[in-house]
Formats: sequence, C-alpha cells, structure tokens
Amino acid sequence: GQTLHLGIAGLGTVGAGVVRLLRENAQAITARAGRAIEVVAVSARDRTRDRGVDLEGLTWHDDPLALVSDPQVDVVLELIGGAEGTARGLVEAALKARKPVVTANKALLAIHGAELSAHARENATPLLFEASVAGGIPAIKLVREGLAADRLLKVGGILNGTCNYILTAMRESGRSFDAILNEAQALGYAEADPSTDVDGWDAAHKLAILAGLAFGQPVRFDSLHVEGIRNIAACDQAFAREMGYRIKLLGLARRTEEDGIEAWMRPCMIPHSAPIANVDGVFNAVSTEGSFSGPMLIEGRGAGAGPTASAVVADVIDLARGTTLPVWGMAPKAAISCAPRTALRG
Ligand code: NDP
Ligand code: HSE
Repeated sequence: GQTLHLGIAGLGTVGAGVVRLLRENAQAITARAGRAIEVVAVSARDRTRDRGVDLEGLTWHDDPLALVSDPQVDVVLELIGGAEGTARGLVEAALKARKPVVTANKALLAIHGAELSAHARENATPLLFEASVAGGIPAIKLVREGLAADRLLKVGGILNGTCNYILTAMRESGRSFDAILNEAQALGYAEADPSTDVDGWDAAHKLAILAGLAFGQPVRFDSLHVEGIRNIAACDQAFAREMGYRIKLLGLARRTEEDGIEAWMRPCMIPHSAPIANVDGVFNAVSTEGSFSGPMLIEGRGAGAGPTASAVVADVIDLARGTTLPVWGMAPKAAISCAPRTALRG
C-alpha cells in the first residue's frame, strides 16, 4: 500500500520517542500495518534543541497548525500537551480539515473530549488517544474493544506514574518528596507543570476518559472528586506499613444503584496483600469489573518515552490498517456529571 505520512507536533519526551520507535522498528511496523509509515514534517518551539533524534530531511514548521495545511501530511500527531491553546486549536483544525489525529493529551480529552469527538464524527475523521491513559498499557483498547461485549460496573486503578514513583521511592528510600519529583521530571515522567501530577489532576483526567468509555458517555471532568499526594509524608507511609498497608494514589469510577456514575481520585490505604498494593515505581495498574468478565487488573509502565511512544504508534498502525473506532461508540450521548461521593468504598 501507499506510505502513510505523519506530521508530528511536539518533539519532547513523547514526540522524540515516537520518531525513534518508528525508525528502530520500521520493518516490523510496515509488516504489521501493511504499508510503510514515515514522519515527513515536525513542529516544536525551539528549532536548535538537540532531541537525540536526527531530523535531517524532515520539513520543520514553526507553527504546528502548518501541519494541517501541509499537503504531504496524512495524519497529525498532537504531542504538545495542555487542555487549551495550541494543542486544542491544532486538534480541532486537523479534524475540521479531515486529517486524522493521534494524541497523547489526556487533559485535552478529559476536558474537551465530547466536543472534539463531535468534530471527529461530523467530519468522519478518526481521533485516536491510546497513549492518553496509562502509558504503555493498552487501556483504551481494553475498555473499548476487549470488553466491548460486557456491562462494566467499575473502572479505575493507579493512573499516574509520577505519583506512584514518588510514593514508592519515599517508602523505600526515605528521600524527600522534592528530590524524588526532580528525578521523575528528569526521567520524562512528569507533566510540564508537575503540580498536574502531584495534585491528582493528571490521574483524574485519565479516570474521566476511562469512565466515559466504560459507561458509554462522556463524564463531566469538573464533577470528579480529586485529591493528590502533596500532603503524604514519610511518617504516613511508615504508619501504613506498620499496620500492613501501602499508600497509593487510586482512582475509581463505578455505576451507582441509580445508574449514575460516582468517581474519585485520592490517596488510599491498601492492604499489603492486595495485588494492586504491589504495583510500584512508574508502573500503573488498570482495573475493571464487568458483569460477565469479572474483575481484571493489568499493570505496566505508565509514563516515559518508550511506553508512551509504543501506544502512540499502535494508534498510527490502526490508522494505516483502517481499523479505527468512533470515540464514544456508535450512538454518542451528552456528558453527564458524576454523583456526589456517597461512601469511600471500592
Ligand atoms: P514535553 O514537555 O517533553 O514536550 C512537549 C513538546 O511540545 C516540546 O517539544 C515542545 O517544544 C513542544 N511545544 C510546546 N508548546 C508548543 C507550541 N506552542 N508550538 C509547538 N510546539 C510546542 O512533553 P511530553 O512529551 O512529556 O508530553 C507530550 C504529551 O504527551 C502531553 O500531552 C502529555 O500529557 C502526554 N503524555 C506524556 C507522557 C510522558 O510520560 N511524558 C505519557 C503519556 C502522555 P520544545 O521542545 O521546542 O520546547
Ligand atoms: N505525567 C504522567 C504520569 C505521564 O506521570 O503518569 C503519563 O501519562
């Protein structure tokens, strides 16, 4: 088949990782996609920055929007980040121009997903976002495809690699919160503004996306209950350990008896014997419970260049094969608010 030509906006941890992965695994990717996939154009802020990948021969656009009008670009990869501004404008413009979009941007999807999916639907153009939830874990595919036949009752898990990395390192080494956060930033795990991670917002974005897909309609992000890990001290972890527990930033969305949705993200004490209590470091865990499939728990690397690039390129391969799905399924509904928190059970 014809080569699929990509335009990448954002060449940071994820964007540079995608360029590297496409090159290193080119042969296998071509075989699996049924056609070659090539990056032809890129955009970032600083043209002179060394990104550890060779950009020779690629068209450079100072303005990411130029990727939409560039006739050689078939697919736009939005790897800039942020719920507003450039990223939002780019995704909207690409969909309106009928150029398929692949994004890793959970903030954008959680807050404007309903509206963007409407643009995707109206223009019959795919909008793919596997990398937006849980890094390398195929969480979106699990909920939309693997569990497509089931009625899901719960979805959630450990959804922020930076927070899990901090909590694990604090517990194991007793080093300070700030020193460990600096390390997570250097490893490319944290968001551009790391308070998005430590205050629970990033994990909540992912929970909102998963809940929307699991329950068949977008969830209003501002109705989620969100707490982060900023106030967890080393002594809290020590007390938890003495009592046989571990502290994790955990999120859960579940159907209520009234067929509404309840969703929260907050630090939790989990018995040491529970499998999810032993998901450590940058690893995430996605848990589901379906009326037919029962409980399920999948763990894997939740952040960083390699795992995230793997998820982005999996979406690109779906596009190359022509096997993409509409965002919320065939019959989209309006966004709903989560019920106020009734009890902290899970
Ligand atoms: P980085 O901060 O490492 O990279 C962002 C890139 O966007 C940079 O190359 C930057 O340019 C570019 N950029 C920023 N603003 C503009 C602009 N106005 N115009 C053009 N380019 C711009 O972020 P990440 O790679 O870590 O994250 C990218 C996206 O992926 C985000 O949505 C993030 O939430 C998501 N994500 C990240 C994961 C991770 O582990 N890091 C995991 C899963 C998702 P320059 O380099 O010149 O400054
Ligand atoms: N900052 C995010 C995290 C990146 O730490 O989980 C992956 O989405």
